Amino acid sequence: PKATTLHLGQVLSFDAAPTEAGPDAVRISSAMLVDVGRIVAVGDAAQLRAAHPEAEVEDHGKRLIVPGFVDAHAHYPQTAMIASWGKRLIDWLNLYTFPEERRFADPAYARDVAGRYLDLLLSHGTTSVCSYCTIHPASVDALFEAAEARGMRVFAGKTCMDRPETTPDFLRDTAQSAYDDSRALLERWHGKGRAAYVITPRFSPTSTEAQLEALGALWAENPDCLMQTHLSEQTDEITWVKSLYPSARDYLDTYEAHGLLGTRGLYGHAIHLEPRERDRLREVGAGLVHCPTSNTFIGSGLFDMDGLLREGQRIGLATDTGGGSSFSMLRTMAAAYEIAQLRGRALHPAELLWLATQGSARALRCDDRIGNLAPGMEADFTVLDMASTPAIAQRAAEAETLWEALFPTIMMGDDRAIAGTWVAGKPMRG
Ligand code: GUN
Ligand code: FE
Repeated sequence: PKATTLHLGQVLSFDAAPTEAGPDAVRISSAMLVDVGRIVAVGDAAQLRAAHPEAEVEDHGKRLIVPGFVDAHAHYPQTAMIASWGKRLIDWLNLYTFPEERRFADPAYARDVAGRYLDLLLSHGTTSVCSYCTIHPASVDALFEAAEARGMRVFAGKTCMDRPETTPDFLRDTAQSAYDDSRALLERWHGKGRAAYVITPRFSPTSTEAQLEALGALWAENPDCLMQTHLSEQTDEITWVKSLYPSARDYLDTYEAHGLLGTRGLYGHAIHLEPRERDRLREVGAGLVHCPTSNTFIGSGLFDMDGLLREGQRIGLATDTGGGSSFSMLRTMAAAYEIAQLRGRALHPAELLWLATQGSARALRCDDRIGNLAPGMEADFTVLDMASTPAIAQRAAEAETLWEALFPTIMMGDDRAIAGTWVAGKPMRG
């Protein structure tokens, strides 16, 4: 095959964030030129064809070419227990999650799940993910190896948890081993190919202050790394945090006091925030990650997308599988729409698509490489069929604008809407 490929279709690019600049910040071009994993040009099909007669041409017809979806918060080890019935957060962790994560003590099991998980993401149009692993270092190796084999840009880290009264003994490290294991993994993987290591204390209730302190020190020593954790997901959890950290001003303070609040910090859920927490998160420019299918499935609450966007917070979108109930970022956009509606704000399809791509890439501090289709960006993209089922096709056929044509796919589309997924210019599916 030729090195250069010209993709024809409806190529979607962001000139600015539609959450700030409105839907007109989205541009549609008729062609995108890709060479050795990078986007070289986006523009007019006839002009690019004439300028690059050597390029192989792939015609996607009327399909929409969008940046590959970026899932900013997930737990790949929870793949096999997604959709577990009947519990809220703390019981759900103890009954379903921890026993499944225990199985990752077996590196062969970790490798098996990691490969199947990434293939599942690709079949849903997701090209990058920021995932928790388990306490087992081999669970991190398994995910990065699987990502390397597929050429995917993946963010991940060892989940650290050492508090004896809140963690089972089969899923517990120590402050020292969490620091040592995380550091060794960071040195092995961070910046190797497309891998990025993420320092990962699970959340305050499962860590001792000594462990939070140790991971804060590791982050200070490696300030170009991201740090991910959970924040204010359920009210019962917040009460629990208050009892475990009686001197903390609020939940965020349990991180802040130990060097775990920063501009490269990612805070999953962030639903029930105090005014002080919102102010501090905005001041440092931290990433807040909205996990809508998880927040409804586990019964956590309604993320304040409108208010948080208005005050200028940095927001990404994520599945949070297996607390989330779907691997699909289309389904996740639909859930984000529904939750915003329950709070009185209709998110525009351009905003939903942006959150699932460039918004998440911004939260991951990687929007200079992924999350948009523009010259110089890495060629991770997804081709959407906006007529993938009879019901969707009928709605799309009546549409007068691109957004009217796309919205039924956002609300009702599944992996049948993913006509193909390309990673670093290579077709992975379709
Ligand atoms: N809080 C701490 N751990 C988890 C987890 O695995 N999933 C969710 N949804 N919340 C958490
Ligand atoms: Fe989570």
